[in-house]
Amino acid sequence: MKECIKTPYNTSVDHLLVCVNSGAGADTTSIGMRSCLYYICTNPSVYTSLQKEIDDFYAANNLIDPITYTKTQNLPYLQAVIKEATRLLPSIVWQLLRYAPAGGLTVDGKFIPQGTSVGISPMAQNRDKLTWGDDADQFRPDRWTEDEAKSRYLESMNMTFGGNGPRMCVGKNIALVS
Ligand code: HEM
Repeated sequence: MKECIKTPYNTSVDHLLVCVNSGAGADTTSIGMRSCLYYICTNPSVYTSLQKEIDDFYAANNLIDPITYTKTQNLPYLQAVIKEATRLLPSIVWQLLRYAPAGGLTVDGKFIPQGTSVGISPMAQNRDKLTWGDDADQFRPDRWTEDEAKSRYLESMNMTFGGNGPRMCVGKNIALVS
C-alpha cells in the first residue's frame, strides 16, 4: 500500500486533499451552480439577455467547442449574473469567525476585547442595504456593470468567497472555472 506523507497534525496529505476537494470544494461549487441556474430560470429577461450575449460571442468568434474559462472573461453579463446569483445565495451562510487580536480592536467606534470571536454571515453581509442599496434583496445583475468604481467597491464587500484577506477561499478560481 502507498505510504502517506504525514502533516504536522498526523493527518495524511491524501486525507487533507479529500477534505478540501469534497468538503470545501464540491458542495460549495454545486450550490453556486444551482444559485445561478435558479435565478436564470426564474428571470426570463435575464435568460434572454444572457443567451444573446453568448450566441453573439460564439458567432463573432466562430466558436463551436465549449467555451474556455479565459474566453468567458469577455462576457460581462455572464460574469455579472454569476456574481449576483452567488451574492444572494452564497454557498456558505454561517458566520466565519475570527478572534480579536492582542489588545483588542475597535470597529465602528465599539471596542472588542482581545480573544472575542467576531464574524458575520456572508448571507447577512451580502444583503446589507447600507452597502448594496434598497434593492439589496433583488436579483439585479446590472448592478455589477453600471459603474466600474461601484463594481470594484461591491466586489470588495462581497463575502461569498470570504473576506479579501489571506484566509479567503483558495478555491475561488477553481469554482469559477466550473
Ligand atoms: C462556489 C464555490 C465556493 C465558495 C462559495 C467557497 C466559499 C468559501 C468561503 C466563504 C471560505 C471561508 C473564507 C474565510 O474564512 O474568510 C472558503 C475557504 C476555503 N475554500 Fe472555498 N468556496 C468555494 C469553492 C472552493 C473550492 C472549489 C475549493 C478547493 C478545491 C475550496 C477550498 C477552500 C479552502 C481550502 C478554504 C480554507 C482557506 C483558509 O482558511 O485558508 N473552496 N471558501
